[in-house]
Amino acid sequence: MATNTIKWDHNVEVLIDAKRIDERITELGREITAHYGDKPICVIGILKGCFLFFADIVRKLDLPLSTEFIGISSYGDATESSGVVQITADLTRSIEGADVLIVEDIIDTGLTMRYLLENFRTRRPKSIKVCTLLHKPEGTKVKVPIDWVGFEIPNKFVVGYGLDYVGRFRNLPYIGVYNGPT
Ligand code: IMP
Ligand code: MG
Repeated sequence: MATNTIKWDHNVEVLIDAKRIDERITELGREITAHYGDKPICVIGILKGCFLFFADIVRKLDLPLSTEFIGISSYGDATESSGVVQITADLTRSIEGADVLIVEDIIDTGLTMRYLLENFRTRRPKSIKVCTLLHKPEGTKVKVPIDWVGFEIPNKFVVGYGLDYVGRFRNLPYIGVYNGPT
């Protein structure tokens, strides 16, 4: 089991520890599995932030699934979303007619998810559902449909468990508030 302390992370205050993350993902896995029954689905991870959550959630889905990834980057390294999204690596195959489950690390303003939903809809999947590990309700600028949320969190900048600040902290086994220099 991963520990909750790391030598160099003194500016990160633990918000959700590894055990709580694991327990919540087990619950989400059960709910999502129950929703789809035994229908095949295509799970799409939004890189880079989703990589740890994706790896953990797919192992809790008792479904015949396939995996795809899309790499996106919001312009710049700002801690606020610009809503301008660049696709850095596209899906490798068509999702036409597929039941798609999007796996995202965090929804803040909703601008990134709105862009992705519009983009995916043009590819004509049969259905699209959204699962996000974290949601900051206070950050909402545009409302997007969210089907499964791991944790609602306060409007603070968080890192760890896949989430970064300027490329760092993705490897922390927990989610914490970043208090360091910006
Ligand atoms: P949105 O477009 O504002 O909803 O933000 C979505 C993207 O912004 C996420 O996929 C993250 O990459 C990034 N983001 C938003 N809030 C945080 C945070 O607290 N920590 C790290 N990344 C964040
Ligand atoms: Mg992200």
